[in-house]
Amino acid sequence: MNVIDPVTLPDYIQSIIFRKSRAMAILPIIELPDPRLRLVSEPVSEIDASVRKLMDDMLDTMYDAPGIGLAAIQVAVAKRVLVIDVAKEEEEPRPLCVANPEIVWSSEEKNVYQEGCLSIPEYYEDVERPEKVRVRYLDRDGKVQEIEADGLLSTCFQHEIDHLNGVLFIDHLSRLKRERVTKKFVKAARLRGDDE
Ligand code: NI
Repeated sequence: MNVIDPVTLPDYIQSIIFRKSRAMAILPIIELPDPRLRLVSEPVSEIDASVRKLMDDMLDTMYDAPGIGLAAIQVAVAKRVLVIDVAKEEEEPRPLCVANPEIVWSSEEKNVYQEGCLSIPEYYEDVERPEKVRVRYLDRDGKVQEIEADGLLSTCFQHEIDHLNGVLFIDHLSRLKRERVTKKFVKAARLRGDDE
């Protein structure tokens, strides 16, 4: 009998085996104007089993949505944890599990992307951000990683790291646009009867 030792396999294969062997967990995503979206999240002290479970549940939740990035506060956990996968539909998944991310460098050059957010559903606007960023973080194994991101990955990192600081992409828009979309979501929440 052959036993596969998952530790010797590449991370993404491990994650596939691991993810197949456990129940999916789709967490509820909180939406504007939930005040928890404005919290500043706390760093994690170590990558233990509970942080790994959070990362895995967040990946399930993000793929289910579907989205390309999700910050822990969007599932009401105020920890500096996020997951990202900017692979296109026809490509192999490239999940990134990120804890305590820090932008250590960003380019002078800017880039504009049309952004959306799972916490502000069905609203999209152009946002200008640095074109490239270098991000240092802890991965799912607790190893320090540093990557230079450009294009969509760069935008996604910046958008998700903003969440950890209580910042939403609408904060990068004009006040008029921000107030208009906020009002719309406040009104919708009131109609649903979950006004805070
Ligand atoms: Ni978002």
